[in-house]
Amino acid sequence: MTQRLGIIGYPIGHSISPIFQQAALDHLGIDATYEKWEVTPEGVGDFVAGLRAPDSLGINITVPHKQAVIPFLDEVDEWATAAGAVNTIVNRNGRLTGHNTDGPGFLRALLVETGYSPTGTRALILGAGGAARGILMALARGGVDSLVIANRTLERAETLAKLAKDNGIKADSIPLSEDALTQAAASANLIVNCTTIGMSHGPDEHGSPLSAAQIPASAIVNDLVYNPLETPLLREATAAGATTLGGLHMLVYQGVLSFQMWTGQDAPVEVMSKAAFAEMTARGA
Ligand SMILES: NC(=O)c1ccc[n+]([C@@H]2O[C@H](COP(=O)([O-])OP(=O)(O)OC[C@H]3O[C@@H](n4cnc5c(N)ncnc54)[C@H](OP(=O)(O)O)[C@@H]3O)[C@@H](O)[C@H]2O)c1
Repeated sequence: MTQRLGIIGYPIGHSISPIFQQAALDHLGIDATYEKWEVTPEGVGDFVAGLRAPDSLGINITVPHKQAVIPFLDEVDEWATAAGAVNTIVNRNGRLTGHNTDGPGFLRALLVETGYSPTGTRALILGAGGAARGILMALARGGVDSLVIANRTLERAETLAKLAKDNGIKADSIPLSEDALTQAAASANLIVNCTTIGMSHGPDEHGSPLSAAQIPASAIVNDLVYNPLETPLLREATAAGATTLGGLHMLVYQGVLSFQMWTGQDAPVEVMSKAAFAEMTARGA
């Protein structure tokens, strides 16, 4: 029996997960297909119920359904509970468990590609939306010393700073203003862009939240934006002599961890990474 995997979202047309997940399945000779399904908010419950079928291994979930799937699951793991969001569902004999591989994928990408581990470090998070919340919880679980959260809408940064403090992490919130950012960036070991600034077709596609002059050469700068592959922020960070990491690495590693949960096999990371970068390049990123 051919097994089924896939990703749900609304809309879902942009997702490149089918490209690199199918590449991994084919590479290992696993008889399974990875599809993408556009599911409306009203259709989430029925869709998730259908995942209990014997030919379903599970799914990935992307925006806007990462919270909506939770009530339909039998169990939710620690990472998903901490993030308040599920990006992976696993079906084992009709029992559905919810997981979140975004945070672990973010940490794994940083560790593998730059050697960064959060323990005892200071991090600056730019943005306060869904991605920022997941990154904050991943850094908190990884033992970060302190966090600064910078956001255009200050109240949202304050909410995240409170969440960090509730988890025992020193945290400050600042506006996305030049002076505040200059001061916060100067002492940061890690800077993560979780805004949409610099994203193709986004609200500020040519913008960078920081200039080279604001970025310490000793910092690691991770832009979660992966279209384009080389964002304006990454160019500024390179000019500053900092270590850089693009967002596609996190996307691949969250997929790697999901793959291992579904199949019980080591994921062919290089195959997946190569397929993901080739697809983004083909799309002109
Ligand atoms: N690499 C990966 O695997 C991965 C995973 C998840 C997300 N991402 C990327 O991360 C980014 C954020 O995703 P999300 O789901 O967190 O989105 P979101 O919840 O909509 O949050 C968007 C964030 O961007 C800020 N923002 C939007 N337009 C802005 C502007 N013109 N100037 C300044 N700030 C602006 C928002 O600030 P306000 O609060 O003031 O509106 C908010 O902090 C996206 O580019 C997404 O593609 C990548």
